[in-house]
Amino acid sequence: MRHLIIICLFSTALVNSTPAPNVARYDHFRLYRVFIETQPQVAMLQQLEDRSDSYSFMGHARNVNQNLTIMVAPHKIAEITELLERYELQGTILLHNMQELIDTEQHSIKPKNTPPEDFNWLFYHHLTTINQWLQLQVNTYPYLELIRLNESYEHQSLIGVKLAKNPENTAIFVECGIHAREWISPASCTFVLNELLTSTRADVRYLADNFNWFIFPVVNPDGYRYTFEADRLWRKNTRPYGLCRGVDLNRNFASDWNGPGASADPCRYDFAGGSEASEPETQALAEFLRNNVAEQRIRTYFSIHSFSQLIMFPYGYTTDRAHNYDDLVAIGKKGAEAIENAHGKKYLSGAMIETIYPSSGDSVDWVYSALGIPVAYTFELRGPPDSTNMFVLPAKEIIPTAEELLAALIAMLQEATRQGYYANDKQKQEL
Ligand SMILES: *[C@@H]1O[C@H](CO)[C@@H](O)[C@H](O)[C@H]1NC(C)=O
Ligand SMILES: *[C@@H]1O[C@H](CO)[C@@H](O)[C@H](O)[C@H]1NC(C)=O
Ligand SMILES: [Zn+2]
Repeated sequence: MRHLIIICLFSTALVNSTPAPNVARYDHFRLYRVFIETQPQVAMLQQLEDRSDSYSFMGHARNVNQNLTIMVAPHKIAEITELLERYELQGTILLHNMQELIDTEQHSIKPKNTPPEDFNWLFYHHLTTINQWLQLQVNTYPYLELIRLNESYEHQSLIGVKLAKNPENTAIFVECGIHAREWISPASCTFVLNELLTSTRADVRYLADNFNWFIFPVVNPDGYRYTFEADRLWRKNTRPYGLCRGVDLNRNFASDWNGPGASADPCRYDFAGGSEASEPETQALAEFLRNNVAEQRIRTYFSIHSFSQLIMFPYGYTTDRAHNYDDLVAIGKKGAEAIENAHGKKYLSGAMIETIYPSSGDSVDWVYSALGIPVAYTFELRGPPDSTNMFVLPAKEIIPTAEELLAALIAMLQEATRQGYYANDKQKQEL
């Protein structure tokens, strides 16, 4: 009873003093882009990331000749200004008020109760709408099946679809939305699915007829929900670990788990988790893949992220070259060319560790090394590395971005086919 009274008083006080809802705000948070040229600059930035959570690093300071985007809380603007001057760090301010972008984006979000018939790619959508739209497609197309994996930490199913017109086909797995705030990923993946279902283009029909597809638009459902309801820039899942919460699911797989480019600190954005595959979402995905890789002949895996405009293949955790490195280079190059031909955007292709930064425990390294899936890529979609909106990509860019992705998939699957990865009798066996 006494507890109840205290809670009531507390609530009243909250209501009186803060009429705003209990969501994260980023008023006057700035984005800085710095170019690291000296070792003292590297050391200073590493300390800064380590000691203060008022700076959100997009990647880590590792070496000289590296560009880095840092989001800075407003009460640290004087401090960062002085530091940049003192260390003679060259930098630009990409954005002066993160919250303004987030507020503007609200107009691009369809309300939660939107009927699945109104789903489209001019808006971003809540998880419930995406899942209802998937169900609607399954009801419409007999060769489409709903797949419900084990539950997330918050007991939400990981829902995807299997598109299969011919049991003899080899299969492609498309994993989307593992990082919650990267909204362009689920949006692009549902776009690709819709094209596979409805397009009359011969090259798209070929992909729908000659491959079976597993498409999971949101493999981090708790995190995705959290970005709509609590914190637009959340990346991880939502499971509590002590004072902090959330595991970076793309650091939680059993591929050099907790190695370079991952953190053992639950408060960090790239926290690897309590142990290898500690998270229910990782387990659900890994279990499904293990059980189906041979039977469904899953030979291809795409993990869709944003931003930075990259097409990357294993490895992320070692500079050792993948066994079929040359093939993966050639396939990635076709993807980048197709993207440039689509709308002129430049994507860089290469091994993950050479292209972006070391990362361990990611899904693509795991499916490649543990399951032997030979054609495995991580996409970072729009915008460019020096993007001024990062994960808050304007909704009017959904369709062109998704069209680029589709163009890349077409070109890459054509090239992998040409190289013999999907031939029934003599599949390439590099691993
Ligand atoms: C860093 O950014 C500058 C300006 O955009 C660019 O010219 C340079 O090539 C970048 N360097 C690296 C190592 O990415
Ligand atoms: C799902 O999770 C439960 C409980 O963690 C586990 O026992 C089971 O093996 C998992 N897989 C399936 C397919 O149910
Ligand atoms: Zn990501």
